[in-house]
Amino acid sequence: MSDPGAKIPIVDLRAQYANLREEIGRAIDAVADSQQFILGPAVCQFETEMAGFLGANHAVGVASGSDALLLALMALGVGPGDAVITTPFTFFSTVSSITRLGATPLFVDIDDDGYLLSAAKLKEFLSRRARIENGATIDEKTGGRIKALLPVHLFGELCDMTSLVETAREYGLEIVEDVAQACGARQNLGGQEIFAGAIGELGCFSFFPSKNLGGFGDGGLVSARTEELAARLRMLRMHGESTKYHHQVTGLNSRLDSLQAAVLSVKLKYLNSWCDRRIACARNYQKLFSASGLVGKQVLAIPTAPTNTSHVFNNYCIRAERRDELKQFLAAAGIQSEIYYPLPLHLQQCFAELGYQHGDFPQAELAATQVLALPLYPELTAPQQETVVGAVARFYRI
Ligand SMILES: Cc1ncc(COP(=O)(O)O)c(C=O)c1O
Repeated sequence: MSDPGAKIPIVDLRAQYANLREEIGRAIDAVADSQQFILGPAVCQFETEMAGFLGANHAVGVASGSDALLLALMALGVGPGDAVITTPFTFFSTVSSITRLGATPLFVDIDDDGYLLSAAKLKEFLSRRARIENGATIDEKTGGRIKALLPVHLFGELCDMTSLVETAREYGLEIVEDVAQACGARQNLGGQEIFAGAIGELGCFSFFPSKNLGGFGDGGLVSARTEELAARLRMLRMHGESTKYHHQVTGLNSRLDSLQAAVLSVKLKYLNSWCDRRIACARNYQKLFSASGLVGKQVLAIPTAPTNTSHVFNNYCIRAERRDELKQFLAAAGIQSEIYYPLPLHLQQCFAELGYQHGDFPQAELAATQVLALPLYPELTAPQQETVVGAVARFYRI
């Protein structure tokens, strides 16, 4: 999270709030006046707005992005004996949502020149490991039924969905998108602009405050293609109730709070313009880094800012030599940076029983040693960006 003491924090939520203070205050007052805090009109309104924004058929507000993932997999009936394919280079709950249900995560490494689940490596993995039997896709190694593909649009960048959708179709896998970091990203697919979260069967969003669309606390949402899945999600987020106090399945208490929904409704109106600003900042970083002469040398790689909105830069991550020292140097200069993520999921202690080893996913492991996120948020100024790049240059020239 943001370090308010840093001269240039990684994200500055105060700057955004200063512009919206009164509008948000009125929205909060309206909920307080209504005294409808649980699944009240503010939640319904926000769900409708989000579905409209995304071009998704349905949207169901839940308590967090982590719960969105868990509930999405529950809605698909994922459980013991099932497997879900995902990336080892992601936030913890992408994977814990699978293991919590007693299912097995099957990892596919990220691209060699990026951070996203590799579409080519997925094809190779499935052709080596998967067998289709009576309409089900079976993992030859574990015997588990591979039910779903869980790609993560990490740092705000859309995965290669054209290829992933094609492969998922071939193997009969449901796609659950992890859109926690990519709310607002969209891409032209088949001649149509489609938002992240409206491509797969289900899309899982987080409204953690530092996300592109962030609330005043925890919050999440699942977008769903079918009414059947949406109805299941509504039931699952409400203790599995079909009618009051009649529980069809064991669900959770995982509702989006009305106060959060009211804040998010205000913020949603600005999301596209904030994404545009993030992209503009990424382009400016690209210009500044290119001029620094460091790229391809000590700064091993910087993100390419696309000409479209397929990367909305929830995070701006460079790859750097002597990354940890650079991070310390920047901190001493009042510039906050973060490591997303220092240890890939296949090497986490809590997943040791999955039996993965060092070397199993070399690109994820390499990224974990090099990646460094620099400050980026819509209100970041050009002089601040110059200060950041100037400090990186000073570090390497010492
Ligand atoms: C990729 C990814 N997935 C899932 C989550 C979980 O979201 P939340 O913190 O709202 O539970 C996050 C949050 O950081 C995330 O970055």
